Amino acid sequence: MITLSKALAAQILSLTFTVTLAWMLPALFHGIWCLALVQGTAAALWSIVLRQRYWWVAIHLLFLPMAIAMLSLRLPSGLYLLIMLLLTLVFWGTVKGDVPLFLSSSAAADAVAAIVEQEHAGIFAELGAGVGSVAVPLAQRRAIRVDAWERAPLPWLIAASRCGKLPNACVKRASLWGCNLAGYDVVFAFLSPMVMAELGEKVGAEMRSGSLFISSSFPIPGWKPESIVQIEDRRSTKLFCYRV
Ligand SMILES: C[S@@+](CC[C@H](N)C(=O)[O-])C[C@H]1O[C@@H](n2cnc3c(N)ncnc32)[C@H](O)[C@@H]1O
Repeated sequence: MITLSKALAAQILSLTFTVTLAWMLPALFHGIWCLALVQGTAAALWSIVLRQRYWWVAIHLLFLPMAIAMLSLRLPSGLYLLIMLLLTLVFWGTVKGDVPLFLSSSAAADAVAAIVEQEHAGIFAELGAGVGSVAVPLAQRRAIRVDAWERAPLPWLIAASRCGKLPNACVKRASLWGCNLAGYDVVFAFLSPMVMAELGEKVGAEMRSGSLFISSSFPIPGWKPESIVQIEDRRSTKLFCYRV
């Protein structure tokens, strides 16, 4: 919640500053756009002072100007509620610091499937399954048990319904931090650099010796991968493979 509190603080402080300035020096402000620009700039500066992550600068800078621009389109107000609901269901825990949804390419899913085959794995886990871009094709192609965890409601619903007819796959709507990795031959995650140290501790403590942990895009700090698979996709994804 610290992220959200800081964002709210930056917006409220900059609004207070802008309104006070407009009240004291009305000649400086010509219309609503001028007000929005000053408020956006002040909010962006506050987010730097409050040490928010760098992308918040752009969000604060554009928030009020975008809100005013959207209001001028006179769209039905229910549409905003619908968009907010959809975004909440997709990016469920992001505001509390969970990793947001972005999907592995089919080339990355194929590469994970190839590694699983090489490993002769019988049981596979995916941490943060998204809509099932990796877990579903793997369970469709191979006679392997696939367990996955996903916390955000809408991606979970999509992944779970895609697994509906697959007796060997199951997507649990639960936090990955509560699962036990002890029984898995291969575990895959595509999360964020911010959680990799903690995830490394979990992998080290729970996965059995000889099993394989694959992290897409983000290495575990201080760990030496057994191999790095370079994938020819749009993001030039790297798979960091760690033998436990
Ligand atoms: C970068 S996406 C990757 C999705 C999928 N693994 C893929 O490769 O296409 C990360 C996913 O992890 C989920 N996630 C983040 N934190 C989580 C947590 N603590 N427990 C379960 N899922 C989580 C997010 O909702 C998101 O769907």
